[in-house]
Amino acid sequence: MSTPTRILFVCLGNIIRSPLGEKLFEHVANEAGVGEKYEVDSAGTSAYHIGELPDERMRRTAKRRGFAYSGSARQVKPRDLDDFDLVIAMDMENMHNLLALAGTEEQRAKIHLMRSFDPDADGAVAVPDPWYDGPQGFETVYDIVDRSVRGLLHAIESGNLKVK
Ligand code: 4NP
Repeated sequence: MSTPTRILFVCLGNIIRSPLGEKLFEHVANEAGVGEKYEVDSAGTSAYHIGELPDERMRRTAKRRGFAYSGSARQVKPRDLDDFDLVIAMDMENMHNLLALAGTEEQRAKIHLMRSFDPDADGAVAVPDPWYDGPQGFETVYDIVDRSVRGLLHAIESGNLKVK
């Protein structure tokens, strides 16, 4: 079997958007019967929440949808841009911070915006940060991340997104 495609999901804190992206991607790939082709992880550009569980509010939202997950926050490191085949940024700030870490064109080419895989993005470029939002903000982010990971999986499996 060929080596798995390695995908890193990145947000600011690695407690809300990127852990959900990581776990939902894994879930939809398993559902599609292609889970063994992928290795996924997530990280934050900041060090604010290292070692913490994913945010309780997002886990509660996910659980209501029948999806339970866990994890432990870590910070992104320059090596990640070599170790992963794709690095998926949740918003433009994450994207700029990742591009600043990248030293080569090969590393830069791995970095993509999550929302570019959302078929309903309608011009929006960010998975919004719901930190200061009420429950509806978390519901909205869940829907965006769910659509985006399905779009990402489809882009890779259909060959539209070239990896490696
Ligand atoms: P995340 O969300 O980047 O999706 O994990 C946030 C987590 C923490 C903070 C902001 C956003 N914060 O300000 O600490």
